[in-house]
Amino acid sequence: MTFGPTQNSGGPNGPSFVVAIDGPAGAGKSTAAKALARRLGWRFLDTGAIYRTLALAALEAGIAVDDETGLAALIQTLRMSQDPDGRMKLDGRDVSAAIRTELVTRAASTISAHARVRAGLLEIQRAVAREGPLVCEGRDMGSTVFPRAELKVYLDADLGARSRRRHEELAAKGQVANLDEIAHQIRERDHRDQTRSAAPLRRVDDQIYLDTSDLDTEGVLARLQDLVQTRRGVSPP
Ligand code: DC
Repeated sequence: MTFGPTQNSGGPNGPSFVVAIDGPAGAGKSTAAKALARRLGWRFLDTGAIYRTLALAALEAGIAVDDETGLAALIQTLRMSQDPDGRMKLDGRDVSAAIRTELVTRAASTISAHARVRAGLLEIQRAVAREGPLVCEGRDMGSTVFPRAELKVYLDADLGARSRRRHEELAAKGQVANLDEIAHQIRERDHRDQTRSAAPLRRVDDQIYLDTSDLDTEGVLARLQDLVQTRRGVSPP
């Protein structure tokens, strides 16, 4: 799907079903949301990837991460798209790897604290839900972007589990990292995401809380599928 000002008029499919998954970094949101969407044949939206792509574009354009006005203007000029696997393109260029560097990760966390940045990206995210049923993940899906989502889930895991997963992810890419350093970075990011004034990461009342510390991907997926089936009025097999 392509994001941008001309794409935001909504789709023809009328009301749809939104699964809104939120939670801290490393809780397994992306993996679970992507797999759930694939299993259901629905759209998948990784909203962190959108913030990351904006951060990359800002770094490349020399726009400072604290220049809220410059960042808001930049959003209007960006041509971003995300494929069903969450791979991101910026002006036709595949930036999926470039948006995962430590530099971009930090910049994304900082720019996402600006109210005007969040406002600028809000409609882009909502437009996707008008195209059909959706599984999306981020920090403010249930609280702000889709407050009327049919199913809201807060995926959590303890810091140790989240750090180990990140460590394994990096190792799979051939990158050596220190576990304590990873834990420190995750804790810092949690703090920034939870204490910013604009749409901070927080739990909301109508969210289902799911601790994934002791679950593997299949376990998380099975639980999410059950929840979707129950909400749709279909009994799980
Ligand atoms: O989920 P992620 O690590 O790819 O997200 C990157 C950054 O974007 C993260 O620091 C928080 C921010 N973010 C956000 O503020 N709101 C969202 N809906 C998704 C991500």
